[in-house]
Amino acid sequence: MRRGALLLLLVCAVALARAAAVVTDGLLPNGNFEEGPPKSELVNGTVVSRGDAIPQWETSGLVEYIESGHKQGDMLLVVPQGAHAVRLGNEASIRQRLSVSPGAYYAITFSAARTCAQAERLNVSVSPEWGVLPMQTIYGSNGWDSYAWAFKAKLPAVTLLIHNPGVEEDPACGPLIDGVAIRALYPPALVRGSGNLLKNGGFEEGPYFLPNASWGVLVPPNIEDDHSPLPAWMIVSSKAVKYVDAAHFAVPQGARAVELVGGRESALVQEVRTVPGWAYRLAFAVGDAADGCAGAMVAEAYAARATVKVPYESRGVGGYKRAVLDFTAIANRTRVVFQSTFYHMKPDGTLCGPLIDDASLVGLRKKPAAGAGGRRRLLKFL
Ligand SMILES: *[C@@H]1O[C@H](CO)[C@@H](O)[C@H](O)[C@H]1NC(C)=O
Ligand SMILES: *[C@@H]1O[C@H](CO)[C@@H](O)[C@H](O)[C@H]1NC(C)=O
Ligand SMILES: *[C@@H]1O[C@H](CO)[C@@H](O)[C@H](O)[C@H]1NC(C)=O
Ligand SMILES: *[C@@H]1O[C@H](CO)[C@@H](O)[C@H](O)[C@H]1NC(C)=O
Repeated sequence: MRRGALLLLLVCAVALARAAAVVTDGLLPNGNFEEGPPKSELVNGTVVSRGDAIPQWETSGLVEYIESGHKQGDMLLVVPQGAHAVRLGNEASIRQRLSVSPGAYYAITFSAARTCAQAERLNVSVSPEWGVLPMQTIYGSNGWDSYAWAFKAKLPAVTLLIHNPGVEEDPACGPLIDGVAIRALYPPALVRGSGNLLKNGGFEEGPYFLPNASWGVLVPPNIEDDHSPLPAWMIVSSKAVKYVDAAHFAVPQGARAVELVGGRESALVQEVRTVPGWAYRLAFAVGDAADGCAGAMVAEAYAARATVKVPYESRGVGGYKRAVLDFTAIANRTRVVFQSTFYHMKPDGTLCGPLIDDASLVGLRKKPAAGAGGRRRLLKFL
């Protein structure tokens, strides 16, 4: 009896310890690189000499430990989270082991800045999944952007790897990384609003916002078959969308929304199950994030054969209007698509655009049954 009880207690303790070890939402351990290597592990002031010199991280290749205010050529480096960051040289990488819940979805958020004019890329992976995030376009005015990437945990312990696959002539080129964070995502099935056929229609579920990153989080285009950091939504085409929070931006509803910063080069898409011949109504809000993005904007929505162009006069100080798109489904599955007709730019030269928020889709009525003889009354579906 007593031994049984002791064993049970032990099993519980082990289970608790294991549960407690699973990563929590927020910065990863030393995710802002504030704990640095001892000075003796830095060659020429910045080059990390050993793979285990930065606490909690393993590095390989030419990794530099950078202090805010460090000068590179005539460029003064600023750091968004705390006072330190790392720079990944050609083929260099950083990695950290994470304890996760198998089967759960996670979004990784991190900030990155280019150091040279070249088109830089980062390969983010949690084996066996990976995604190459391009950094050609700078969206943040201080040179830093935050990026999100999602994965599904297949094992209880995984390794997050951020790798610079670049091979530049100048070894001082290569992106700076700071503020690496994680957030467990709800499975898309749980993100459905009552009566709303769209999941996550208010964009409330998504990647972590770094506390000092007042420039939002870029959600890059989905690579085939991978998971979206914005549950239920896909970013198709070539450019990212920007995920914004109420702490730093004006948001029409709830705490989060999506800014269409890629013009026609990015589309926000969700596929829903529909009944061919039935009528549906897509309702949504179009606005601006109060981020100084001013101008005559047009947000477009498509579903089946229907289109609506919603003009929105932005003064860049916040505000929104409501719009609807009625359509008749022509297939079992319908793609709901949002896009910005134009590119917009803030006075500082960074890309911006209209906000989309609070999207809902409801079935309106059933079409008359074909071949059933007389006309049937239109049924209210919801
Ligand atoms: C340190 O600087 C010297 C002189 O510039 C250079 O030759 C050497 O390669 C540097 N070491 C590292 C590890 O970068
Ligand atoms: C955010 O910025 C404030 C003011 O610049 C600073 O005091 C604070 O330490 C920063 N927080 C993080 C997590 O970097
Ligand atoms: C990205 O990294 C993963 C894991 O290291 C690797 O399997 C994959 O081939 C890399 N992809 C590219 C395009 O470098
Ligand atoms: C719609 O679904 C039904 C049943 O699942 C299937 O028989 C039919 O072929 C599908 N139609 C289209 C256009 O995909």
